[in-house]
Amino acid sequence: MEAKPVHYSQTTITELMIPSYANFGGKIHGGILLSLMDKVAYVCASKHAGTYCVTVSVDKVEFLQPVEVGELVSLKASVNYVGRTSLVVGIRVESQNVKTGITNHTNSCYFTMVAQGDDHKPMQVPELMLETEEEVKRFVEAMHMKQIKKKMKEEMDDVRSAVGVSQAHQLLKEERCVIKMKV
Ligand SMILES: CC(C)(COP(=O)(O)OP(=O)(O)OC[C@H]1O[C@@H](n2cnc3c(N)ncnc32)[C@H](O)[C@@H]1OP(=O)(O)O)[C@@H](O)C(=O)NCCC(=O)NCCS
Repeated sequence: MEAKPVHYSQTTITELMIPSYANFGGKIHGGILLSLMDKVAYVCASKHAGTYCVTVSVDKVEFLQPVEVGELVSLKASVNYVGRTSLVVGIRVESQNVKTGITNHTNSCYFTMVAQGDDHKPMQVPELMLETEEEVKRFVEAMHMKQIKKKMKEEMDDVRSAVGVSQAHQLLKEERCVIKMKV
């Protein structure tokens, strides 16, 4: 399997924000943006993998600016990292007001996708050819993020098994909650 360069699978989708995408506050619903992100992540990952991919995890979704009805939203996706069967796709989302030309960075996030063969089992993906300093940096960042996530999962498992209700009373006394358990 030959290595593929990052630009081979880089994908941009642009979509007009129509009124039916709005929430009760008149802004674009976060779920609409998440669905578009999933779509662009799929296109980008499957181009690199040369096969179907499934979404396994989504990291660092933050909505930094509201998106308005009538704006154009562009989602730019690149493969930042590949493991054996998984790929991390970085997505940058920008909204543009067509009248003023003003563009806002609304969010960036990272989708982990896993390539699947016809048997629906994880399948090896081609190596990623890194051709710029930025691409090398993104690969290293994603690699570290994977290690941090692994460590965080282990720590959270420890917290869950170590904390009982008796410790919780002490731990939560400054927090804005009331423990009122049903017997
Ligand atoms: C994705 C899936 C096939 C992985 O199955 P699995 O039994 O964990 O398979 P493996 O242990 O062989 O892991 C496969 C890869 O996924 C990665 N992976 C598994 N769980 C992960 C997680 N929570 N976060 C990030 N990566 C993960 C593994 O690190 C491995 O990567 P690598 O091959 O690059 O090292 C399985 O979790 C699945 O089917 N999930 C449902 C996907 C789905 O339906 N998505 C929504 C619709 S697209």
